Formats: sequence, structure tokens, C-alpha cells
Amino acid sequence: MSNIPQHVAIIMDGNGRWAQKKNMPRTQGHREGTKNLVRIMEEFSKHGVKFVTLFAFSTENWSRPSNEINSLILLLREALNQEINELNNKNIKLCHIGSLDKLDLDTRQLIDNCIADTKRNSGLTLTIAFDYGGRAEIVDAIKSMIRDKVHHNNVDEELVEKYLYTTDLPDPDLVIRTAGEMRISNFLLWQSAYTEYYSTTTLWPDFDEKEVKVALNEYSNRFRKYGSVS
Ligand code: IPE
Ligand code: IPE
Ligand code: MG
Repeated sequence: MSNIPQHVAIIMDGNGRWAQKKNMPRTQGHREGTKNLVRIMEEFSKHGVKFVTLFAFSTENWSRPSNEINSLILLLREALNQEINELNNKNIKLCHIGSLDKLDLDTRQLIDNCIADTKRNSGLTLTIAFDYGGRAEIVDAIKSMIRDKVHHNNVDEELVEKYLYTTDLPDPDLVIRTAGEMRISNFLLWQSAYTEYYSTTTLWPDFDEKEVKVALNEYSNRFRKYGSVS
């Protein structure tokens, strides 16, 4: 492929529908949706992608039933505990965007430890967006700027970017959404201003290496204009 995105961000959607189709509880869909993660990261890495960001839990997902929320937090913990060695073996650096405030102390510590454990890795950067919302991120940035007494003359796009959770990440080149929905659902609102959008009807637990290739191939045929004439 001629044109590989540097940063791919994924709205991992359709776990519930996957389970429903199989007459299983929704939580089983979420569990299934964590099994393909490392393999998919490897496939992106193989093609030269440097950053992958996964939307795992949105600020709006707190409105789901508490048993589903608890199981999503539990699955995050399980995935981190199970895959931490694999992340190190594969030279993957783990980051988090969003808020950790609503999570229990154990989970917060686990996330912090995994980030510290992998911070010297120089391969793919894998960012987990957990309790992430694009609007909350912008509100947090504004609060921090006010706290820092930033003068309005000094506010420009570059400065705003310094205050976002994603300050160390390039903007995503490609957003992939599984399960066919055509909406952004509060994901990377600022950062995806000029991102290429790709939607597939494949449900997240069925998303595999082949699907990665299809998405990357579609991206490589896009022509990005950024508002200019060709
Ligand atoms: C995505 O799958 C996972 C999260 C949003 C946490 P869903 O749970 O949204 O699955 P559907 O959309 O109900 O199929
Ligand atoms: C977006 O999926 C959030 C995540 C994938 C974590 P949702 O399933 O929550 O989004 P809506 O409700 O369909 O917009
Ligand atoms: Mg959904």
C-alpha cells in the first residue's frame, strides 16, 4: 500500500449486537471483543502504523446498566493483566486518554503501572480511551487554561492542542467505526477535524487482520484535500 496512516483511531462498536445474534448476554460480546486486540495491533504495526487509539468506554457509556459497566471495567483489568507481558514483548507503549477519576483505586493503579511499565517501548503507541468524551476533554482544557491564567491573546490552535489529553499524539489520519453506525459519538472531536472516516458493518468481535487490510487499502485510495483545490 502506497499511503499508510500514521495514526488509526477505532470506535469499537457492535459487541452487544454480536452477542444478541448468538443469544448470549451483552457482556459476552464485550469479552469476545477483547480477544482480537493484540493480533489487530500487530497487523497495524506490520503495515507501518505508529499509533492506534481504541475507544473502549465513553463518558456517555456511564448511562448503561451497572452490571454492564462493571463488566467493562473488569474486562479492562483482565486485558491489562493478561496482555502486559505481550505488550512489552511486542515493544508496544500503552497510554490512556480520558478520566480515571470515577474508577476505583485498584483499577487506576493498574492502568498507571501498565503505562509506567511500557513507557520506554519504542514500537506502536496504543492509547486506550476509557471514560473519554471529546466534549469533556475540551471543557477540561478550558479549565486548565483558566487555572494557568492564559491570556486570551495567547490562545491559538497550537496552545489548545497542548491542553488536550492527546497532546503527545498526532491527529488521527483514519477513524474506523465497526458495526455500521455513521456517527462520531463524542470521539476525538477536535483531533478528527480532517480525519478520513471509514465505517464497516462488521461487528467489533469479528474485526480481524483481513478487515485491517481492507480499511488500510480504502485509506490508501483516499485523496485528502484539507479544503484546498486539487
Ligand atoms: C461497543 O459495543 C462497546 C462499548 C460501547 C463499550 P456496544 O456495547 O455499543 O455494542 P452495540 O452497539 O450495543 O451492538
Ligand atoms: C461509542 O459506541 C463508544 C465506544 C465504542 C466506546 P456507543 O455504542 O456507545 O455509541 P452510540 O450510543 O451508538 O452513539
Ligand atoms: Mg454501540
